[in-house]
Amino acid sequence: MDLTKYQDRPVLVTGGLGFIGSNLALRLASLGAKVTVVDSLIPGCGANRFNLAGADIELIETDLSEPAALETSIAKASVIFNLAGEISHIHSMEYPERDLQINTLSQLRFLDACRRMNRGVRVIYAGTRQVFGRPRYLPVNEEHPIRPVDFNGVHKYAATMYHLMMSDLGDLDAIVLRLTNVYGPRMSLNVTGQGFLGVFFRKALLGESITVFGEGEQMRDPVYVDDVVDAFLLAGLAPVAENRECNIGGREALSLRQIAMEIGGKVEQIPFPSHLQSIDIGSYYTDSRRAKEMLGWEAKTTLAEGAAKTLAFYREHFSEYLNPDEKLRRELPEHAGIRRRLEFKAIP
Ligand SMILES: NC(=O)c1ccc[n+]([C@@H]2O[C@H](COP(=O)([O-])OP(=O)(O)OC[C@H]3O[C@@H](n4cnc5c(N)ncnc54)[C@H](O)[C@@H]3O)[C@@H](O)[C@H]2O)c1
Repeated sequence: MDLTKYQDRPVLVTGGLGFIGSNLALRLASLGAKVTVVDSLIPGCGANRFNLAGADIELIETDLSEPAALETSIAKASVIFNLAGEISHIHSMEYPERDLQINTLSQLRFLDACRRMNRGVRVIYAGTRQVFGRPRYLPVNEEHPIRPVDFNGVHKYAATMYHLMMSDLGDLDAIVLRLTNVYGPRMSLNVTGQGFLGVFFRKALLGESITVFGEGEQMRDPVYVDDVVDAFLLAGLAPVAENRECNIGGREALSLRQIAMEIGGKVEQIPFPSHLQSIDIGSYYTDSRRAKEMLGWEAKTTLAEGAAKTLAFYREHFSEYLNPDEKLRRELPEHAGIRRRLEFKAIP
């Protein structure tokens, strides 16, 4: 597919101050697209103003749940890249209503605005492998049963289904990319609960040993962010497909121990923390063949190559990403007045 087609095109990137969204927005800008980013800098997510510092990109600071400020940008967008969301499985178990609001209610309101302002617009949604839960077989393809093990997976699945259902109705023309664990420059390293890759990179950069739970034998297929950006760009231009969902996985399946060694060298084993066992999914790696058929996409970057580029980026911009954890830990329960833990009352 010819990515020069993005030249001069207006595009909207939601969650564009975060990790993947900012990499995508910068790449779109380098292709000559007219990029608008929307982000509400939600505490506990990966927003970082430095991610887009100095870039020729319009930023609208609003939440997707209040899309009035976005209507003009939605109306003119030729493609909407919808990456706003909370990725933390742990946060979702501690504050399920917060996760519901971020990942589901906000999406419902935003997609309704898309339907009203730009019916049939191409939307590429950042779905997650988390919807599959514990794999019943490996590698995991798109036919795998859906059985999330945490609220994040349930809420992301609801949002996935909004995209697909509204596409069936002709309101959207959506494609959902179900991402495995993504890593690379601009991922937050200082927000707790955002997954093991940020922790591994942070420890490697601080010269600390990387802790793996148990034997560290669980398999993952980390995918480098530039490869993920390619998948979004290709999906934005792909012809309308029979299938609107595909899995996006990394080039190699490796054990957590191997991943830790590739990133940092020093590895320490500790018993699996009991509070995380219930949401552990064991081994996961992706069957990405449909992405190749649908989009002509496949992961190019090995973990060795991607880790080296990632470490080099953070060494250059150390102070922008490695701030103390405590501030964010304090902020999270204050977010949006949603302070309850595992209580199922209406959101105020
Ligand atoms: N990083 C991964 O490994 C991974 C894996 C699977 C799926 N995903 C999905 O990819 C997307 C991007 O992930 P990321 O790693 O870049 O996360 P991130 O936390 O770095 O970025 C998400 C951004 O979205 C913003 N945001 C969240 N909800 C919003 C709302 N309602 N309105 C406006 N802004 C909002 C946040 O402020 C943040 O800047 C997410 O939807 C996530 O579920 C990520």
